[in-house]
Amino acid sequence: MLKVGVLASGRGTNLQAIIDACEKKMINAKVVAVISDNEKAYALERAKKHGIEAYFVDASDKEKHERKMDEILESHDVELVVGAGYMRILSPWFVNKWYGKLINIHPALLPSFKGIDAQRQAIEYGVKITGCTTHFMDEKPDHGPIILQAAVRVKEDDTRDSLAERILRVEHQILPRSIDLFEQGRLVIEGRRVKILPGDSWLEKYSYPDVLYSEGY
Ligand code: GRF
Repeated sequence: MLKVGVLASGRGTNLQAIIDACEKKMINAKVVAVISDNEKAYALERAKKHGIEAYFVDASDKEKHERKMDEILESHDVELVVGAGYMRILSPWFVNKWYGKLINIHPALLPSFKGIDAQRQAIEYGVKITGCTTHFMDEKPDHGPIILQAAVRVKEDDTRDSLAERILRVEHQILPRSIDLFEQGRLVIEGRRVKILPGDSWLEKYSYPDVLYSEGY
């Protein structure tokens, strides 16, 4: 079973989606550690409720914060690190050390609307379609090779929150699926591109909302 470490700064609904997918055996993986830079992150409570080791790691000193996270991940023999709403930019040494084993979810169709509050950026820009992206992390934020994307319509009367809510539901699908593809050994990084090797399809196996998924889903 793939040992997964999750980094999360907030309420942790993406973490919950990963835990649920593991418990339902949709993915052959297990969350072995959850790390937060925020002592009050609900993500830490969610971890504890499922008997997963939860760590608050103070981030006032960035170097120490990342060294400690690295130490925790190593101590649990983590094979894949997932950024699930982890709101800090990781240093090059950390990203390079874990490169190819470090993925992130972003609530927009990258390369559009990088950085914080991507959903508000999308509303303010006036796009008609946005969505979410999973990608391998590299040295630049929200930049590394893309694994999966899914498109979500922006409705005329959407607010930042109503849009974020609809995107989030889709995030909860593509993030566990990305872990699944990694676990199945189906993700091959070729420069900026991620080739997805053939295999099963979640679109065929499960029923999903009316959104456009990239290949590999
Ligand atoms: C998600 O929208 C994620 O894409 C973004 O931050 C949010 C985290 O939500 N990076 P949650 O903590 O998983 O509920």
